[in-house]
Amino acid sequence: MIKVLIVFGTRPEAIKMAPIVKEFQKFPDLFNLKICVTAQHREMLDQVLTFFEIQPDYDLNLMKPGQNLFQLTGDIIMGMKPILENFVPDYVLVHGDTTTSMAAAMAAFYSQAKVCHIEAGLRTFNKQSPFPEEMNRQLTGRIADLHFAPTETSRQNLVRENIDVQNIYVTGNTVIDALFIAQEKLKGYDDQEIIHLKSILTPGKRVILVTGHRRENFGDGFINICNALKLIAEDKNVEVIYPVHLNPNVQKPVNEILGGITNVHLIDPLGYPAFSWLMAKSYFIITDSGGVQEEAPSLGKPVLVMRNNTERPEAVEAGTVKLVGTNFDVIVEEANKLLREEDTYNEMSKAHNPYGDGTAAQKIINALKDGKRG
Ligand code: UD1
Ligand code: UDP
Repeated sequence: MIKVLIVFGTRPEAIKMAPIVKEFQKFPDLFNLKICVTAQHREMLDQVLTFFEIQPDYDLNLMKPGQNLFQLTGDIIMGMKPILENFVPDYVLVHGDTTTSMAAAMAAFYSQAKVCHIEAGLRTFNKQSPFPEEMNRQLTGRIADLHFAPTETSRQNLVRENIDVQNIYVTGNTVIDALFIAQEKLKGYDDQEIIHLKSILTPGKRVILVTGHRRENFGDGFINICNALKLIAEDKNVEVIYPVHLNPNVQKPVNEILGGITNVHLIDPLGYPAFSWLMAKSYFIITDSGGVQEEAPSLGKPVLVMRNNTERPEAVEAGTVKLVGTNFDVIVEEANKLLREEDTYNEMSKAHNPYGDGTAAQKIINALKDGKRG
C-alpha cells in the first residue's frame, strides 16, 4: 500500500483537493489515504468539507481570529510533527500557495516524506504580489519532489527553475473537476442557499458578483474598491452581490462603505454549490480571487481582476479576464464598458477552458498509481 497524506487548510485548497480525495477513494487496495486539515480557515473550510462529504482524519483546528503569519506558520509545522511521525506517509500532497501549503511542505520535508505539489508552477515573480502567496508557492516548489502543473505555462516556469522535467505532470486544474462535481450534484435540485439567493435577486437586473480578500489590497485598496462599487451601484439596473470574506480586514471597510445600499447585497460566504450557481447567474464578476479567475472562463463570464498582476495569465490572454488593479477610476470605467458596450461584453464572455477538462484528479492519481516516484 502507498501511504498518502493530503494536507489543506483554507476554502480554495479544500475545493481543489476534494476531487483528488474522491479519486483516491476509488482505490482503497492501492492507497492508504489520510486527510489532515490545518483549519487555517474554520467556517469557510467546513462549508466545503460538508458539501464534498469529506471527513478529515486529523484536524489541527488552528484558526484564530485576525491570525498572523508568524504564529500560523509555526503552529502548522509543530502540529504536523506527531502526525508525520505516527503515520509515516510515502507522499504528502499540498496545494497551491497558502501558508498551510508552504508550512506543511516544510514539515513533510523534515520528516523525509516525498512532497507532491498540486497546482505547481504558477508565478508572478514578484514576491510582494500576491503576498505572501508568491513566496509560499516558490518555496513549496523548491521542496516538492513531484510537481502537478495545471497548464503548459506553469510547466515552463518550473522547467526554467531547473526542475527535472520527468517530475512535472501537466494535469489541468482540479478546480474544473470540482466545478463539474458541483454541477452534477446540483442537477435537478436547489439547495437552501440557492433558494435564498433566488429570493433576494430581482429578476431582470444585471447581477455583478464581487469577492475580495487579498492581503496586499487591505487598507486603501479595499476603500477604493468599495467606493468604486458604490458608484457602479448607482445604476439601478444592476444588482451587486458580495459574499464577504470573514477576514476582519475585509469585513470592516466593506460594511462601512457598502452597508445599507438597497441594490448591494452583502452576504456571508456561500457554500460552493451556491457560489458556482451565482457565478453562472451573474452578468460579470469583479474579484481578486485566484480560483474565480479559473472558474469563470469555463462559465463564459467576464472577470475584472482587482490586482496589478496575475499568476494565471491564460484567461487574460484569451480575453475573459482583465486586470484592473484597485484604482477607483479604472474599476468604474471597465465595469461601465461591460455594462454599456455590447461588443466589449461579447468579446469577454466567450466560454473556454484554459484550466482543464475535469480530469486533473484522475491524471494525478494515475501518476502516483504507477509506483513510487520522485
Ligand atoms: C488565506 C490564504 C490565501 C487564500 C485565502 C482564501 C495565506 C497567507 N492566505 O487568506 O492565500 O487565497 O485564504 O480565502 O495562506 N476567517 C474566519 N473564518 C474562516 C476563514 C477566515 O473567521 O473560515 C478570518 C479569521 O479572522 C482569520 C482571517 O479571516 O484569522 C484571516 O484568515 P487567513 O487564512 O489568515 O487569511 P485569508 O485572507 O483568508
Ligand atoms: N467560493 C465559495 N464561496 C464564496 C466565494 C468563493 O465557495 O462565497 C469559492 C470559489 O468558487 C473558488 C474559491 O472559493 O473556488 C476561491 O476562494 P478564495 O477566493 O477565497 O481564494 P483564492 O482562490 O483567491 O485563493
